Amino acid sequence: MIYQSHYGTTKKYAQWIAEELGAELFERKQASVSVFNQYDMVIYGGGLYAGGILGVDLVSKVKFKHLVVFTVGLADPSMTDYTEIMAKGFQNKAFQPDKVFHFRGGIDYKRLNLTHRGLMALLKKIIEKKSEVEMSTEGKAILETY
Ligand SMILES: Cc1cc2nc3c(=O)[nH]c(=O)nc-3n(C[C@H](O)[C@H](O)[C@H](O)COP(=O)(O)O)c2cc1C
Repeated sequence: MIYQSHYGTTKKYAQWIAEELGAELFERKQASVSVFNQYDMVIYGGGLYAGGILGVDLVSKVKFKHLVVFTVGLADPSMTDYTEIMAKGFQNKAFQPDKVFHFRGGIDYKRLNLTHRGLMALLKKIIEKKSEVEMSTEGKAILETY
């Protein structure tokens, strides 16, 4: 199990899953592909940031025996279309995950670093200009939580 998380929600899911499965847990920064190639199954979890899966390039350019991916984002997974996010993260048709899961994370605006805080303020301004129909579920979730 490998994960990358900025604020800990993806880490929490990774810990829960690893515990349940009895899997080894690695942070993305400690991870090297050559080590993971030896495993029968690799699970990668990444937080969603601006429509991308954090650190996913580690697993999107390699053929693993079995790859399972999960994302953690603000939007309600039951209402969200992840087609673009997955296509962007896994551009090579030969290296697609066997299975993908999407979980709901959380956000504490007070804990965001300066860059993320600025980005969210900008995103909020852009989303506010959109009409209800144009708004993505991610956009709605940002406005609801901001
Ligand atoms: C700058 C920024 C961009 C984000 N972009 C998205 C996004 O595109 N889609 C989404 O569902 N959530 C987005 N989020 C919310 C995060 O995915 C959510 O807070 C998640 O729980 C963070 O995971 P982490 O705690 O493991 O870092 C964004 C958050 C920040 C701060």
